[in-house]
Amino acid sequence: MSDFPVNMNVRPEVAPFFDPATNTISYVVKDPNSNSCAVVDSVMDIDYAAGRITYDNADEIIAYVQEKGLKVEWLIETHVHADHLSAAPYIQSKLGGKIGIGRNITVVQDTFGKVFNEGTEFQRDGSQFDKLFDDGDNYEIGGLRAFAIYTPGHTPACMTHVMGDAAFVGDTLFMPDGGSARADFPGGDAGTLYDSIQTVLSLPDEMRLFMCHDYGPNGRDIQWETTVGDEKAHNIHVGSGKTKDDFVKFRTERDAQLDMPKLIIPSLQVNMRAGDIPKDRNGNPMLKVPINAL
Ligand SMILES: [Fe+2]
Repeated sequence: MSDFPVNMNVRPEVAPFFDPATNTISYVVKDPNSNSCAVVDSVMDIDYAAGRITYDNADEIIAYVQEKGLKVEWLIETHVHADHLSAAPYIQSKLGGKIGIGRNITVVQDTFGKVFNEGTEFQRDGSQFDKLFDDGDNYEIGGLRAFAIYTPGHTPACMTHVMGDAAFVGDTLFMPDGGSARADFPGGDAGTLYDSIQTVLSLPDEMRLFMCHDYGPNGRDIQWETTVGDEKAHNIHVGSGKTKDDFVKFRTERDAQLDMPKLIIPSLQVNMRAGDIPKDRNGNPMLKVPINAL
């Protein structure tokens, strides 16, 4: 990883927040030498059947940040999530910070702008976000230097964010006994995902890896933290001895059997707008359900 400014001597404090409704783990990542922090992959609560939005998850993060006296510099989205709604704008309205996502959000916006038959008022240029990250982009969380690695495959806009000795992999990897995320969404690709996973696994073996999701396979308790070395040795989809061909065959067959995530329809409409809820022509918050389009 000579191209990336890896610094294993900087160990940020990582506080996890698990959402049992969507099996998402959000994180507050604190610079060890200042009160600056980043919030990674926050969750806005939705009761989709009732069309009701609440902020219990986000309020927990906000209370933590306030209690610790932290300053939010960044609200990082590892990708456009299809299984939960982002609370980034809500947290930003209370605590500040810049919302950032991968540059290829524009590809996702273009694809789903068509699926949801959005009009010209929906910009496909990523301008809803404060920052679009390119591969290798550096940024600062107080004195903590962080950088983004382009890791597509699950979606075309996925980035892994490295902050000191901690990497936030989004849905590029799951815990070793969970394997990997699906690669069959529009713009996803199993071979590309395999290559991105190899990029993550080329980070130092001691690098801490933090998952965006865990489903507690085989009845084990929920976990979210592992290491590069552990994934290389034990990941059931890409660990020792698994070839790219093995992975692509397995992933493609598995994905063909998966149902759509329960919240994909609201999630995409909200998350491709950086977490803002779309409005109807009268300005009321409103979601669509496109028929037979996904
Ligand atoms: Fe995802």
